[in-house]
Formats: sequence, structure tokens, C-alpha cells
Amino acid sequence: RKRVLSGVQPTGQLHLGNYMGAIRNWVNLQEQYDTFYCVVDLHAITAPHDPVELRAATRSVAATYMAAGIDPAKASIFVQSHVTAHAELNWLLECVTPIGWLNRMIQFKEKARKQGEDVRAGLMTYPVLMAADILLYQADLVPVGEDQKQHLELTRDIAERMNGLYGGKKWKKRGGRGGNIFKVPEPLIPPAGARIMSLQDGSSKMSKSAENDASRINLTDSPDAIRNKVKRCKTDSFTHLEWDNAERPEATNLLTLYQLSTGKTKDEVLSDIEGKNWGAFKPMLADALIAHLEPIQSKYAAIMADPSHVDDVLDKGAAAAAETANATLNLVKDAMGFVVPK
Ligand code: AQP
Repeated sequence: RKRVLSGVQPTGQLHLGNYMGAIRNWVNLQEQYDTFYCVVDLHAITAPHDPVELRAATRSVAATYMAAGIDPAKASIFVQSHVTAHAELNWLLECVTPIGWLNRMIQFKEKARKQGEDVRAGLMTYPVLMAADILLYQADLVPVGEDQKQHLELTRDIAERMNGLYGGKKWKKRGGRGGNIFKVPEPLIPPAGARIMSLQDGSSKMSKSAENDASRINLTDSPDAIRNKVKRCKTDSFTHLEWDNAERPEATNLLTLYQLSTGKTKDEVLSDIEGKNWGAFKPMLADALIAHLEPIQSKYAAIMADPSHVDDVLDKGAAAAAETANATLNLVKDAMGFVVPK
């Protein structure tokens, strides 16, 4: 079976963007593929962080995966730092990745600008660790939101560079293993929901790290909080709603959220909103979001009531993940000329 790997950082409350752009799509994939869903805690420390919050968020993200429908009997759910091969392969890959490639990463530029003086080396090398996460599992497919597309292209470039430098016939002649070291993965970007935008600005993405909590719907927001956020979200001065007008990013975003949370087609949504203005649409959207999140929230509460079960799932997931990851790590070390212990 083909393999799939994806992950979310435990850097705060998960929001609708993380859910619609990533986690929601993982659920179907677990039926067809060998799936590895990771809580990428090593990625969560590239900016100043709070250790108490990191620990709590790590379990909370794992519980969210399960609440969203990821089944530990079908998928390996694990914490990145529990599988030490991630950090090890990261170093090996850093040593073949040109700095120029990292300099081009848009997310680095944006985050570095926000962080001002306190920009750390890990923020820049983050995409290499992401490449290690993916390549360790020889993943065929990586479901991500559109914001991660550039990082995935970098992963592909690193895989090809490694295959070129240390794979292939030239090494076979000198006793190496030959062939490719890494599978070159493909991104899997959902047709709708790949980029959920902020409720306060239709031109910037919904994000955990945005200061204004009203800019996002957290998966754990209460019905009242959701109603309030939708009531106060940014609109425009046009009377009726419409989709895909470049001058109306807020309208497109909110209609997309409505579509994804009701499961309706675009045509059905258009007929629901016919003749309606913003004032009539907002309560419809709030109701749809509340109804969509309710089953996830009640499942989440039940899972979090038994944290030892979450830890058991993570232990089991890490053991399964480590088996695959260590096999790849040994192969890479061997190909690069390290003496690999028996
Ligand atoms: N707004 C979004 N729309 C669609 N998909 C999104 N993702 C994130 N934001 C949106 C997808 O969620 C997955 C996990 O993201 P992450 O936690 O690794 O980090 P991120 O992409 O940096 O997410 P945030 O929420 O914006 O966090 P901060 O604010 O800390 O940077 C990825 O698949 C991503 O595509």
C-alpha cells in the first residue's frame, strides 16, 4: 500500500484552517493507505515557547486527531520527538541542503519579519526537518494546505538531491547499495478548503499564531464564541453574497466555510443564499459551523477525560513509526558512508 504522512504543530489551539485544510482529509486516507499522523512537537519550538503549554498542546492535538475520526487501529498516531530518527535525519539533510534554498522560503520570510530580533536558526531550517519527517516514511503522498506547498517542493528537491548524490549506479560500483534512497513525495492539496482565511482579513490565512483570537474559529470554541466571532467577522459593502470575486475575499472565504461545514455543493449553497444579505447569512453560517463541530467537540471531551488512553495510543504509534523510520535512517546512513552498527 502507498504511504501517507502528515502532521500539525502543537503550537496552540487548532482552528478550522488546520481542520479543513489538513486533518479532515486524513480521515478518508486512512482507509486506502498506510497512514502516519504525527504531532510535530519539534517544529513547535522554532519560536519562543512555553514548556507547560507545549506539553498540554501535544496531547490535545493527538486527541483532536482522534476526535476528528483518525482511528488508531488504522493509522499510526505519534509524537515526532518520540521517534528520534526525525532529529537525526534532519542533521544529515541539513548537510546537503543549500542555504539559498532555505532563503527562498516565503513562510520563513513572513515569520522572521513578525519575530523581529529574536529569529532563531531553527526557524530557517524548519523545512529541512519537515523533509526528514516525510522522507523517513518514504511517503508517497502528503496531505497539506496550500501554505505548505513550497515546503513540500523543497522536500522533493532534497529527496532528488540525495538520490543524485548518494544513490544510483556510481556507488553501486564501489560497494554501495545503488538505486534511489528516497521516494519523491507528491502533495495532496484539497480542492476546497486548502486555504481558509482569517475572519478579520480575507487576504491573510487563518492562523494559530495570529494575536487576535477573533480571527479564527478554534475547534474547541463554544457555540456562543462561534456565534460572536461570526457576528463580528469582516464583511464588505456589497449587498448580496457571491463566490470567487477577487474583490470580495471575505465573501468567498465565508461561503467556503459554509459549504465545507454543510457538505453541500456550490450550487446548493448558491440557492441557500439567494437574495440574502450578510445579516441573514451570518446566523446560517454560525449554525452550520456549530453543528459541524459539535460531534468533534463531544468526542474530544470524552477522549481528554482519559489522558492515559491518549498516551497509550501515542506509545503504540511511536513504536510502529520507529520501525519504518529507523529502517530508512539506516539506509541513508549507509549510503552516506557512515559505519552502521549491526
Ligand atoms: N488557514 C489554513 N487553511 C488551510 N490549511 C491550513 N493549515 C494551516 N493553516 C491553514 C494546514 O494545517 C496543517 C498544520 O499546520 P501547522 O500546525 O503545521 O502550521 P501552520 O501551517 O503554520 O499553521 P498555523 O495554524 O498557521 O500555525 P502558525 O500560526 O503557528 O503558523 C498544515 O497542513 C497546513 O497546511
